[in-house]
Amino acid sequence: LENTTEHERKGDTTMYDDEVPKPSTTRRIIIFDTTLRDGEQSPGCSMNLQEKLEVAHALAQLGVDVIEAGFPIASPGDFEAVKAIAQEIRGPVICGLARCREADIDRAWEALRWAESPRIHVFLATSAIHREHKLRMTKEQIIELAVAGVRRAAKYCSNVEFSPEDAARTEIDFLCQVVEAAIDAGATTVNIPDTVGYAVPSQMYRLIKTLRERVPNIDKAVISVHCHDDLGMAVANSLAAIQAGAGQVECTINGIGERAGNCALEEIVMALRVRQDVFHADTGVVSQRLVPTSRLVAGITGMVVQRNKAIVGQNAFAHEAGIHQDGILKEPRTYEIMRPEDVGFSRSDLVLGKHSGRAALAARAKALGYELTPEQLDRVFQEFKILADKKKEVYDGDLAALIEQQTRVV
Ligand code: KIV
Ligand code: ZN
Repeated sequence: LENTTEHERKGDTTMYDDEVPKPSTTRRIIIFDTTLRDGEQSPGCSMNLQEKLEVAHALAQLGVDVIEAGFPIASPGDFEAVKAIAQEIRGPVICGLARCREADIDRAWEALRWAESPRIHVFLATSAIHREHKLRMTKEQIIELAVAGVRRAAKYCSNVEFSPEDAARTEIDFLCQVVEAAIDAGATTVNIPDTVGYAVPSQMYRLIKTLRERVPNIDKAVISVHCHDDLGMAVANSLAAIQAGAGQVECTINGIGERAGNCALEEIVMALRVRQDVFHADTGVVSQRLVPTSRLVAGITGMVVQRNKAIVGQNAFAHEAGIHQDGILKEPRTYEIMRPEDVGFSRSDLVLGKHSGRAALAARAKALGYELTPEQLDRVFQEFKILADKKKEVYDGDLAALIEQQTRVV
């Protein structure tokens, strides 16, 4: 017993961030934030220039590696926003999206050339359904266009990302050919999008592994993933891609984005940090900034964060059940796998409701300045349960009134 840690003595395998032994092989995953591009494509989520700048500053403070600031050819407003972000934000790489068209790429560069570290992101769909119905192009034409797009972008800047749109539904042999050609043409990052959120984790793992095995020049580029959440698996798919060797994850604050959204930044970051024993990978994100950034984006876009949203939802560290509250008061690790303050909440929230127990009630009463005798606590607890049956949540004001009433009777 002498040589065991406190955790081991308690039979406890949950560790907080600062207690996790960092293996020497921890990989640094690049966080590519696309809140301002794919996130803004959520219906009703448009942001004006000032709002975009505010979010970009918050993302830089959060410690993301790349900010995809917009799609400069999409509109004059998008162009101005990318340009302003490129001029003002220092630290992260600033990226702009472009189709494999000359006008798109030229316009993207016009906005990005002010950046300290610019990146042009060119994309072209590769799946049969997109080739046949949307682009009406042969495989040969796709490769030719992708190569021309990457080459044009590479003339402007040394940091070029290429995305074969709908990669997860593209024939693997063709995808390998496109990726190889894009890297030969100068792509420094190849991003593998699951554009319609169709993949499952085992498939995503195999896909990245196959690319690493079959594309001869793959080591010359960073492999990235960009997963949508149509089946609710964007984060799981991104984690599977990391396990297969992906070095960059594209994600958005609160998981906003086209349709059901993108991989949620806060979830991927904390999954990697809390489960380093599984992933042996981490990011440069300042996790304490996650909640403030989430709130800023929710406030600006009007996309409310669901209460039970992992990591940043109002209930993420709220406990109502008496057994849980008792556990939390004795030792937070009984019911929490990370500390609320590690993601930017001030503390755990013991919600007083009909499932709450005496321990939580006594603790809240004490925090409100009431030292109750055991008899007083009994009476207050009885009255509290009657009140809690009528109300979803018993607030501090309700409790104070109840205590005043019960202690006056004594
Ligand atoms: O979902 C997608 O395929 C995209 C690309 C532009 C990367 O957003
Ligand atoms: Zn997307």
